[in-house]
Amino acid sequence: MSGSLTAGELGLLRAGSDLHMNHYGGRRLPYAVLSGRGVHQRLAVVDGPDAGRVLDVMDASGGYASACLGAGHPRIGEALRRGVEEAGYATDEVGSLERARLLTELFGDDGRWSARFPGGEYHVSSRNSGSEGMELALRLMLEARFDSRTLRPAAGRAERDVILAFEGAWHGWTSGLVPLLNRRHYRVGLPVPDVAKPYGVRVEHLPFGDAEVLRDYFAEHGHRVLGVVVEPVQGDAGILVPADGYLRELARLCTEHGALLTADEILTFAKSGDYFAMTDSLGPVPTDITVIGKSIGMGAVSASLVIARRALAVRSSGAVATSDLRPLTCAVMREGLAVMNDDKLLAHSAGIGRRLADGLHGLVAEFPELYREARGLAVMQGLELTEPAARRLTDLREAVIRSGVYVEFMAGAGRRTRGLRYVFPTMRIAPPLIITEIEASELLQRLAEGSRRFRETLG
Ligand SMILES: Cc1ncc(COP(=O)(O)O)c(C=O)c1O
Repeated sequence: MSGSLTAGELGLLRAGSDLHMNHYGGRRLPYAVLSGRGVHQRLAVVDGPDAGRVLDVMDASGGYASACLGAGHPRIGEALRRGVEEAGYATDEVGSLERARLLTELFGDDGRWSARFPGGEYHVSSRNSGSEGMELALRLMLEARFDSRTLRPAAGRAERDVILAFEGAWHGWTSGLVPLLNRRHYRVGLPVPDVAKPYGVRVEHLPFGDAEVLRDYFAEHGHRVLGVVVEPVQGDAGILVPADGYLRELARLCTEHGALLTADEILTFAKSGDYFAMTDSLGPVPTDITVIGKSIGMGAVSASLVIARRALAVRSSGAVATSDLRPLTCAVMREGLAVMNDDKLLAHSAGIGRRLADGLHGLVAEFPELYREARGLAVMQGLELTEPAARRLTDLREAVIRSGVYVEFMAGAGRRTRGLRYVFPTMRIAPPLIITEIEASELLQRLAEGSRRFRETLG
């Protein structure tokens, strides 16, 4: 614990908090970030009996899992300077040197991702956020039903009137995406033009992870499926990792039945020990559209990339965006990806993941009344709460933060069909990729301390 605020600083933070729209229904967390370095943050208490106190916390969340290089990375600082001072600004109507460098390094001949997405077969656009990237993916799938010249359903495509999504899915907040979420809480009361066919197609939800269910569904309805939207590891559902082979079977069924496959890798990008979680023991699992977000902005800018087969495009000028692949954004992405490559951060994060997984399984064993299950990949780990702990999630979170770890929680998939069990809220442990072994051990110790403190309050 380090220091305290002056009355003036505390007043300023409170005023800022009051003006910031509160999306949390009830009380928002009574903390404010003062500064950060690596995985450490100085967090001020802005409310309650010890308001004004400053805590030193380790960040287990990476700012909704987006600050993959932690805080204050010098090479990102330099990329921002270059992007502002040297790269100029350019819309998507003209090219840009910084953009060309990024795209050719990734998708050009021998590009970093060209084995998965060869530039001759895929093209790329960027948006400001994950949600906007998913909106573009959805739009690309819907446009694929149409002849872009006549704007009428293309021959043989009119009957494709189903988009398939999964129970517990999370793809973003914007209106187009709400129908893809099967959780009533997020949908009810919102104006969906036609509930049964929100975009002129139906949205159906299948339980996630059961290949037999997929095969049965496609055998009966495959000819009607326009597209499938999947998170390769379900995030908000509680870090649910499908069995090896499931995603490949999904891709195979999509190809066999002529359906488009969209992978929402907004959360999973660079967190599974690979850039892409659409990967199994055989290698890359092919997709028609892949959307990446969060970490691709390196915690410095908010951006997503939509990587789609070249045949997928919207009608003329139908998806122009002011922000598409701005030189500044490209400079940040390119530099951050170079850091990941130079410092071998994906391999490093796989090793850290093993340490974290061991520690989290240890916590399940030590605190069975609090934690039900630990699961995950590399730096995307989840600790599912028991029902009693879920009821007191806010207190648990407070105890963990007070013990020096900033954590976030995901809603959990809740009720699912076909005999799959209820999934309770799940603590997300998704620290920046740069976390060291020593820091990961320290983080686990602090988490254990917070769990102990919380357990004492249970009586
Ligand atoms: C899987 C997934 N898709 C989409 C989104 C939405 O991204 P954004 O908040 O950048 O709009 C999120 C954010 O949590 C996510 O986890």
